[in-house]
Amino acid sequence: MPTPQAGIFALGTRTHHHLEFDVNGSVRPALIGAAVAALNEQIVGSGGSNVVVGFGPDLWRGLSDSVPADLGSFAEITGCDGHIAPSTQHDLWIWIHGTGVDDVLDLATAATSILEGVATLAAESRCFVYHDSRDLTGFIDGTENPPPTAAVSVACIADGAPGAGGSHVIAQRWVHDLAAFDELNVADQELVIGRRKVDSAALPKEILPTDAHVSRAELLDEDGHERPIYRRSLPFGDVTERGLFFVGFSAERDRFNGMLAQMYGTASDGLRDRLLDFSTPVTGSYYFAPCVEDLLDAAADQR
Ligand code: HEM
Repeated sequence: MPTPQAGIFALGTRTHHHLEFDVNGSVRPALIGAAVAALNEQIVGSGGSNVVVGFGPDLWRGLSDSVPADLGSFAEITGCDGHIAPSTQHDLWIWIHGTGVDDVLDLATAATSILEGVATLAAESRCFVYHDSRDLTGFIDGTENPPPTAAVSVACIADGAPGAGGSHVIAQRWVHDLAAFDELNVADQELVIGRRKVDSAALPKEILPTDAHVSRAELLDEDGHERPIYRRSLPFGDVTERGLFFVGFSAERDRFNGMLAQMYGTASDGLRDRLLDFSTPVTGSYYFAPCVEDLLDAAADQR
């Protein structure tokens, strides 16, 4: 198997920084390639922090022949009851995560200055681990994530297929209405999420609602086998705006579409996720995070 970008799976870091860029239209591919090469040197030299790079579909097609068959942009979803998941597709996503705000900020600044003249910063989210990996609703996030032994096969395209070792990525900034969520009592909050608040234990089947978040997010194939994704979301926020920067990795892009369809009520059962009453995505992009070998080739080819 080609080498996936290590930062996708590096756990234990408490400060995460997401940068999304638009490539300037008139820039030659050679310049973009040179920037990617410089970014890669930054990745190698970044010491304790991790840097993961993902490309929008058009940019990646322009940089490499190692293109997954199902590469694509995020398309806006118009769901039930007026709920919308907007598309704000950008060209480049850089995810930096480490233990300290200082090192992570230095790297984010360095990456942005490497890209100066080539790409314009379009969105930025600074995220943090909240207590014992809780979302700001107070619920533990990540409980059902695949364990480290399974994460690579869930997140990365299998050996032999175009784009092998790379991952489809979803990045969405969700803004919470915590005032509304906090008005619910804990038992009702648990029915929204579908897990116990104190310890993330699964709710008994008899009381788990079909519109709970975990009910809607669990995606099964025709034979009833789970189609999982690998999530690395974290909270962001201050006293005025708070939410979750949702990040998922998958060997197949369609798993994201399937989960979102079930959440937005556009799947065949027409049910939608009750969580949408308390949180709204304000951005949405799909990226491709290639394996290290393809990243290096893309950089070398364009110099
Ligand atoms: C405001 C946004 C969101 C919040 C606060 C949130 C929070 C949570 C929480 C608390 C859990 C239960 C614990 C766990 O297993 O991690 C969970 C499960 C899950 N979420 Fe989300 N989530 C959000 C958006 C999404 C989106 C957009 C997707 C998919 C595109 C997604 C996919 C999943 C999956 C696959 C699970 C595991 C379901 C299972 O039990 O099999 N979530 N989420």
